[in-house]
Amino acid sequence: MIATHDHILKLRAELDQHNYHYHVLDEPSISDAEYDCLFRNLKALEAAHPELVTRNSPTQRIGGTALLAFTKVKHEIPMLSLGNAFDATTMVEFDRLVVEALDLPIEDDCTTVEYSCEPKLDGLAVSLLYRNGELVRGATRGDSTIGEDVSINVRTVRNIPLKLHGSGWPINMEVRGEVFISKAGFKRLNVSQMEVGGKIFANARNAAGGSLRQLDSKITASRPLEFCCYSVTTDICATHTDNLQQLQNWGMPISHELKLANGIQNCLDYYRDIKERRNSLPYEIDGAVFKVNSIALQRKLGFRTREPRWAIAYKFPSMETLTELVDVAFQVGRTGIITPVARLKPVKLTGVLVSSATLHNMDEIARLGVMIGDTVIIHRAGDVIPQVVSVVIERRPENAYAVQMPESCPVCGSPVERTKLVKRRKGKEIVSNGVLYRCARRLTCSAQLKQSIIHFVSRRAINISGLGDKTIEQLVDKKLICSPADIYKLKPEQIITLQGVADIASRKLIVAIKNSKMPTLARFIYALGIANVGEEIAKVLAQSLLSLERVQKALPEVLTYLPDVGLEVAHEIRSFFDDSYNQGIISMLLSPDECGLQLQNQLDLSAPFTISATLGSLLDKLHIPSIGSGVAQKLANRFSSLEGVVNADWLEMRHILPAKQAKAVRNFFNNSDNTNYAIAIEQQLKDFGMHWQSKKKFVKNLPEVGHTWVLTGSLKLISRTLVKDMLESLGAKVVSSVSARTYCVVAGLGATSNLAKAAQLGLQVLDEEEFVSFLAKHNITV
Ligand code: IVH
Repeated sequence: MIATHDHILKLRAELDQHNYHYHVLDEPSISDAEYDCLFRNLKALEAAHPELVTRNSPTQRIGGTALLAFTKVKHEIPMLSLGNAFDATTMVEFDRLVVEALDLPIEDDCTTVEYSCEPKLDGLAVSLLYRNGELVRGATRGDSTIGEDVSINVRTVRNIPLKLHGSGWPINMEVRGEVFISKAGFKRLNVSQMEVGGKIFANARNAAGGSLRQLDSKITASRPLEFCCYSVTTDICATHTDNLQQLQNWGMPISHELKLANGIQNCLDYYRDIKERRNSLPYEIDGAVFKVNSIALQRKLGFRTREPRWAIAYKFPSMETLTELVDVAFQVGRTGIITPVARLKPVKLTGVLVSSATLHNMDEIARLGVMIGDTVIIHRAGDVIPQVVSVVIERRPENAYAVQMPESCPVCGSPVERTKLVKRRKGKEIVSNGVLYRCARRLTCSAQLKQSIIHFVSRRAINISGLGDKTIEQLVDKKLICSPADIYKLKPEQIITLQGVADIASRKLIVAIKNSKMPTLARFIYALGIANVGEEIAKVLAQSLLSLERVQKALPEVLTYLPDVGLEVAHEIRSFFDDSYNQGIISMLLSPDECGLQLQNQLDLSAPFTISATLGSLLDKLHIPSIGSGVAQKLANRFSSLEGVVNADWLEMRHILPAKQAKAVRNFFNNSDNTNYAIAIEQQLKDFGMHWQSKKKFVKNLPEVGHTWVLTGSLKLISRTLVKDMLESLGAKVVSSVSARTYCVVAGLGATSNLAKAAQLGLQVLDEEEFVSFLAKHNITV
């Protein structure tokens, strides 16, 4: 027991350190797969010893029971806001007032005040209280004196330390900062919201606010929230930047853009620089914040009514503007989803001429209440597609008219249907209307066909180079290809008839098609273009199930045992393989007499992908009415087998469960469809070696797990794609540029800058022949 406890403490400390490297220092110390492995080990130990679980364990960032309302909290020191500047003159004036108030000598333009410079993050302000180094409370700003206690939500934010590192922190300490969502996180969130028919957020700030103020902290836990600390109200060091540096040493995330400036002119330089780099930053900022760096001088300067005299926010010009909604067009995507796109009267916004904006879906149009002819406010953040934010109702013309989803597909004319959402709750399937509309004709609609062929041949999928978008469009329009399988039946004389394809290119293309016939299982699954199955999920499916046959017949409940596969995706996978048209295409692709593709099946399970389902989790996945995961586990402990639960003696069941729950279990299994389905899941777990009693197959500890490789220059003997696949099959991560984290470099001809950097860092470099012998050592022949 003591040994287990020590092991748990060791794993927690290790995970905390890796989290710190990843979130705070931005320098990952291990690969995602290794992290997941440690995390799963800790979870398993804690599940076996629930009495050893503590609030601050890294496994506890998952949220808890939903609240009815947030309690109010008082900020002992009010959370004030900042004065704003919109031009350099106001900034210079701010500095003059600082210098005057501090009574500093004004010697002809001499720069005397030291300022800290930080980006102004666009999220929401949060206060965090630490007692004895442990997070004890998180609160929103509210009206600056009274905020809301969002402690349970704050605990789910991955980069907020639940416990400070090191020592020497004040017994009571309050830090403040911004909770925000990165640009990438925001994009991902809206895509998944759209899929489940949830609210679409107009911008990352609204998404962060909405997510942090959720009464159900499990929802908060599922949102990509991040924290950046920008102040501490407790005395620590003599300057603001030293305070932040010290906080970072204790594990607190601070801005990577924090700088010092001597005098206001240097502040203006910082502003110009960060404004220029704004689009390439991973998060939204709406300006820069400048603070007098000395805490003593800050005290001397004090506050006006609502803002400090020692700080100012220099805001960027607005990214919003007014324009007219001229029309709404409808675009058909790869999976047939029809998306409304706003056609706008062209208008310049942050230096770019904008003439269209995304409207997401029909629910979003209803939410905005937008009509064609309306004047709308559009917002453009970074390189993100502009969005329609709101409507100026007062300017609505008399002839404005409603936006309507066409009844037939704008490309192929076939009927448009509304998507359905299927959820299992309390043992029943609940089907509701989704927010999306789809062209019913799927792959026979030329818009979808073109998109899915473009995806199928793309570099990360089947990888047929030389088959560009324009060529594909022509091939589909001329009806030379009607499915991915037709690619393999193309003849050079057909390709040569296409515009822009010369004789030599057509011959090269035929060779590229021929060379693409041995994809890995993961690439093939990804190439099929199943909705929501990206490269990562495709790899998980291949690495955990090992063959296409298994992926094809896997039940959704079994799929949800795999890392990162939720019920929604599991259903998409199931329905894709249930579709007879898809089945036909797959068998044509794999038939030696037709296309002759040969999948390189995954040979062995690799450590992170060995899955052992438990009886408790199986019972939980059945969604028996009123049976949660705790009760499911109780049933499992008592009856030890599915058969035991199905045939449980009533008295015995009553022994562990109240009458209502015992009855629910009984009623559920009295329905033979339910029993058969549960048995089918169990059988599949056995077939796939995932059952709790299955002997674990030989687990290969992949030799290159945790190693990052770089390929550079051009290779003669093997294609780069193949090299990447091979390295990945050995567990390595392959990236494009050399850094201190690189483990080994494979250098072909003409490699220059990467090679120079590798030499500078003293890294291991293999030429192509050496690499081939490295592969041979791992029994891979090329
Ligand atoms: S300092 C008393 N620093 O901007 C000064 N605020 O308009 C407290 N903000 O409520 C704020 N980035 O939510 C500070 N680097 C930064 C900031 C920042 C964003 C937000 C914060 C505050 C608002 C003030």
